[in-house]
Amino acid sequence: MLGIRLQRHGETTLARQIYQRLREQMTEGRLRPGEALPSTRELSRQLAISRNTACEAYEMLQVEGFIESRPGAPTRVADGLLLDKPVSTVERSEQATCPAPPLLVDFRTGQPDLRRFPVHLWLQLMRQAAEALPREQWGYTGPEGLPGLRQEIAAWLGRSRGLGADPQNIFITAGATQALHLIADLLSVEGREILVEDPCHNGMLHVLQARGCQIRPLPVDEQGLQTERLPGGGVGAGAGAVYVTPSHQFPLGGILPASRRAALVRHAREQDLYLLEDDYDSEFRYSGAPVAPLCLMDAQRVIYIGTFSKILFPALRIGYVVLPPQLHEQWRRLRTHADVQNPPFEQAALAEYLRTRKLDRHVQRMRRLYGQRRQLLLQALAENFGRAWRPWGDAAGLHLALEFPGWNFDRSFAESAREQGIRLAPVEYYSIRKGSHADKLLLGYGHLEAEEIREGIRLLHGFMQEKGHKV
Ligand SMILES: Cc1ncc(COP(=O)(O)O)c(C=O)c1O
Repeated sequence: MLGIRLQRHGETTLARQIYQRLREQMTEGRLRPGEALPSTRELSRQLAISRNTACEAYEMLQVEGFIESRPGAPTRVADGLLLDKPVSTVERSEQATCPAPPLLVDFRTGQPDLRRFPVHLWLQLMRQAAEALPREQWGYTGPEGLPGLRQEIAAWLGRSRGLGADPQNIFITAGATQALHLIADLLSVEGREILVEDPCHNGMLHVLQARGCQIRPLPVDEQGLQTERLPGGGVGAGAGAVYVTPSHQFPLGGILPASRRAALVRHAREQDLYLLEDDYDSEFRYSGAPVAPLCLMDAQRVIYIGTFSKILFPALRIGYVVLPPQLHEQWRRLRTHADVQNPPFEQAALAEYLRTRKLDRHVQRMRRLYGQRRQLLLQALAENFGRAWRPWGDAAGLHLALEFPGWNFDRSFAESAREQGIRLAPVEYYSIRKGSHADKLLLGYGHLEAEEIREGIRLLHGFMQEKGHKV
């Protein structure tokens, strides 16, 4: 009746959890002044706890003046408890006082398997790289990044994607996120329109929004950005850029076909704007070679953004851009006045990792592993859900987009799944215009072991059955 959910194995005692939940309900006005609370006997029955625990919780509330009890009368909520709190404070206090239940399965997206990263080898390389780094490179070494790393990345782009980039056009960044920050400043996007895939990665969207540009969402289908929806010469002319993930659309997974790529490039030329190509995970493609970058079609119009967050690990914070020469000078100025440069040690270690082809072998190994996990996930879905679902997008990356026709996955679905220990994201979470992808879920699987995937899907199936009786 009081809507209290208890964590039986948490570190907070049951009495304190009850005290905290009731206190919140009183200060937020869900329990009103003078309202009668259940007797301790009734409370212990409702929550399946001992009477002592119920008494202890009421005692804590009484001592602090939240409730009043008189012999022979029901315990009542005291007067004057309501706090007129701003939402953010409420949310913060809920987070602080109401820890989320433990996770049973974590289908978060964008997470490589850190357990399989060769940590010892990496630490060895870091040490060797730091020792071998000439003393002058401990100083200010330039906003472009270490020459050795720029060279190795150029070679890597050639052998992994057939992109023949000049090392002089490669600028090292602290990941793709920082790259987009700097690009937004470089193109002076403030007040201008940026065309963005919808749905799209929240983090990247926020970067653009924070730069003060106008976001114009363009719908995405199974093949990626719907280029026929690009604005013509009239409406939308004067846009600053188009942000795209053509090799593996985030989050729906499509590969942008050649005709749409050509349409994008034509549009960029006609409207005199840049295409921002975010190639965040195309190394992990399970049914063929990585897709060739859009950048190959017009290196003057496309700013290519790459990252090592997925193929190595996100905390490395190394990414890069391939930048047309006309933007170099301004980039140098901006980066210098932002955070100066990347630290040289990780760059030197990464250059060595690339030079000795250890990165190639690591990617090969991980591609095989992630491919197997994807197969396993599809198999578990088929076993549990029969034909009630279908996958979207190319067989690539670390997550899967799934459609369950007839379902409506909203924030409350994700929240109640989380209450049951299942972390997942509805595609709607990434939609700018809500409503077009309400029947789709995203499941990140790259970081999960086989057994975690099987168990996770079994749990999800049970949860969805309870919710909707349709699977
Ligand atoms: C589509 C997309 N772009 C960019 C990023 C951010 O990458 P980085 O860690 O290099 O900033 C992510 C991370 O998940 C992503 O999924």
